[in-house]
Amino acid sequence: MLEYRFPFEECLKFNFTRVFIFGAGIIGSGFQEQIDKRNQVLNLGFIDNTVQTQTAKTDIVKRVGVHKPDILKTSEYDCIVLACDYKLIPEICECLFNMGICYKKILSPNINRGAFFTPNIKHNWNRYYDGVDSSADKQVQRRFVPLLEKYPISYAHVLDFPSGRGRIAESIYNIYAEQINEFICCDANNEAIDYCRQRFANNSAFGFMVNKVDGWECLPLEFEDKHFTFIYSWDAMVHFSYKWLDFYICEFYRLCQQEGYVFIHHSNLTSSNVKCDKSETFSDNPHWRSPVSANDVKRISKKHGFTVVEQICFDWEVPNLDCVTLLKKQ
Ligand SMILES: C[S@@+](CC[C@H](N)C(=O)[O-])C[C@H]1O[C@@H](n2cnc3c(N)ncnc32)[C@H](O)[C@@H]1O
Repeated sequence: MLEYRFPFEECLKFNFTRVFIFGAGIIGSGFQEQIDKRNQVLNLGFIDNTVQTQTAKTDIVKRVGVHKPDILKTSEYDCIVLACDYKLIPEICECLFNMGICYKKILSPNINRGAFFTPNIKHNWNRYYDGVDSSADKQVQRRFVPLLEKYPISYAHVLDFPSGRGRIAESIYNIYAEQINEFICCDANNEAIDYCRQRFANNSAFGFMVNKVDGWECLPLEFEDKHFTFIYSWDAMVHFSYKWLDFYICEFYRLCQQEGYVFIHHSNLTSSNVKCDKSETFSDNPHWRSPVSANDVKRISKKHGFTVVEQICFDWEVPNLDCVTLLKKQ
């Protein structure tokens, strides 16, 4: 279970004492309880359209008062603290930006166990890499080719993110070699990219990049805008949180040429029929799938400007656990 904590430290740092809490549900009422125990900030009120969940402590919410977002236009306050499911933070920020509110006035909650939201890149993937090399051709023939063949995709400039040791890259290269000018393997794991360098040492079409990941921080992929005609991701973004999917899909849009395609293998855990708690900690879930759905990826992709060409959900031992989404930059 996640624990959402009111960002007292940030308030102290910026001398914020008068706050609005955005979200009058269980997280918001929990924040008020935390505020009541400390004498540091004053909650001027909750902002919401309704009290979101049955479990919100309505006595607390009523005592402080709930307002429509419009109140922000006429009130004096130091900051707005978001009290929502972490998945909704990007959308709520966008809504506040559209109201003309400066990002400096918006604080996110502190969420414990956040370090586990995305695969720790220090995780030792070697056992995985050793075990899966021989299944690459089968996976490509089964999941990539039937979908890709339906569309006029250019394979002139290809990005594999994250590539691991390049087993999928080798398989894709062998199929589309004649059309490929450049094929980049990118992964945050140095050793995996070193392995790729050796694997493709005799092929001048290949290039390599170790991308940076700094704990929670999503860092941009260091390629120029509109560089690739085709970007794909296999068996890695299935573990990525909503926040990381949002960040990298935005990056893919930036990196993709006009008319370019993006193929993403991701989790569909929350729309699958898995009968278990769907934990925010991906490694608690079946096959380490993150708690997102095909619809989440559709929503994120559209938000960044992509056309969603096709989504195909499929079984990964568990019915409908996974999905591949094909996107196009029009
Ligand atoms: C399960 S392996 C899959 C590798 C490859 N796609 C394959 O199918 O063989 C997951 C890979 O994702 C990489 N990874 C995880 N988070 C990453 C991030 N934020 N940026 C880049 N690579 C990441 C890991 O280093 C690892 O190589």
